[in-house]
Amino acid sequence: MSESLSNDYLLYAPHPPASTLAQWLEECNHITRQILSNISVADQMVPQINILNPPLWELGHLTWFHEFWVHRDGQESKPSFMKNADYLFNSSEMAHQDRWSTPMPSLDKLLEYNHRVIGSTQDLLRAPIDNKAAYFIQLAIFHQDMHNEAFAYMWQTMGRSMPFAPFAAFTSTSKLEAKARDWIHFPKSTIQAGSEQGSGFIFDNEKWAHSIDLPAFNIASTPVTNGDYLEFLESPVNLAQSTPVGPPSHWKQEGDTWLERFFNEWLPLNRASAVRHISHLDAQRFCECHQVRLPNEHELSLLMSQKQRNWQSSNLWEWTSSTFAPFPGFSADPYVDYSQPWFDGSYQVLKGGSLFTPDRLKRVAFRNFYQAHRSDHFCGFRTCLL
Ligand SMILES: [Fe+2]
Repeated sequence: MSESLSNDYLLYAPHPPASTLAQWLEECNHITRQILSNISVADQMVPQINILNPPLWELGHLTWFHEFWVHRDGQESKPSFMKNADYLFNSSEMAHQDRWSTPMPSLDKLLEYNHRVIGSTQDLLRAPIDNKAAYFIQLAIFHQDMHNEAFAYMWQTMGRSMPFAPFAAFTSTSKLEAKARDWIHFPKSTIQAGSEQGSGFIFDNEKWAHSIDLPAFNIASTPVTNGDYLEFLESPVNLAQSTPVGPPSHWKQEGDTWLERFFNEWLPLNRASAVRHISHLDAQRFCECHQVRLPNEHELSLLMSQKQRNWQSSNLWEWTSSTFAPFPGFSADPYVDYSQPWFDGSYQVLKGGSLFTPDRLKRVAFRNFYQAHRSDHFCGFRTCLL
């Protein structure tokens, strides 16, 4: 088995047929173009804070990323359709704060750049493709899916209207049926963590499959709800703290009524819905107060891999107690900055997927990761008994 940095991705077979990749690309690029085509000049500007990116930069960046890996072999020496593309749009090189002050090409120019790059890939996909091309095309599509989701949570942060339709219906999936919480018991077991060769496309942080001895545990069948969280906020234990946990920033109280904001709409707080936009730090404080704990990534993966649906999805990325770290056998794939720079102990693993995550990214082995203080993405949590 080759574990060299440059060749592992050739082991990520089988790949979907070219026609499927063409369809995925069409879908995800349509969403991006829809978001950007509808944006007003005023909305091209966003506040300069570290959880946002200027929308024009995002469009240039995701197009550059696609072109760089699919059409330029990951080499700056190969020409780009866009002048200065590497300087402007390589996220590893353009510092976050400079994305506001550096003059960007116009929206029309960026849409034209996007059209040419994606069109070139659609031409490639009219014939069968090899593993290498399939790997980089999937990498570019999944990267774009993640940036589309980032548009959704940036718009939520800013209180703008929903930028694209969710992949699952908001009304039926995010308002949980009021259902009693069960604790699902898993006996002591040995499970496989990570992904093995031949699993299809994987990210480098899933390398490689290995056995984990998992002690017995009890995990909640349902996520923590708005009602649970409100009760916690108002509990004497929380209020007695020197710095009590406050309501999430998308909640407000009018008289005795609590409201929550979904994009630009204030709705009555539905107590049965999964609570969202809670940081890992606040989720931990909830757990301490209730004498429960967050599941680790293996426990949550095991729950989410159950065929028998005796557990309820939150349609959110769910926090785990696992700090993002390499598995045994890790080596960085060609996009070296995907995982490796973030193994510094300040990122926590999340599992699952939100309403704005397409099904193709919702593999149980997929490891999402964010810093513990973040709550702007679509995140929630469930608990385990101590
Ligand atoms: Fe990116």
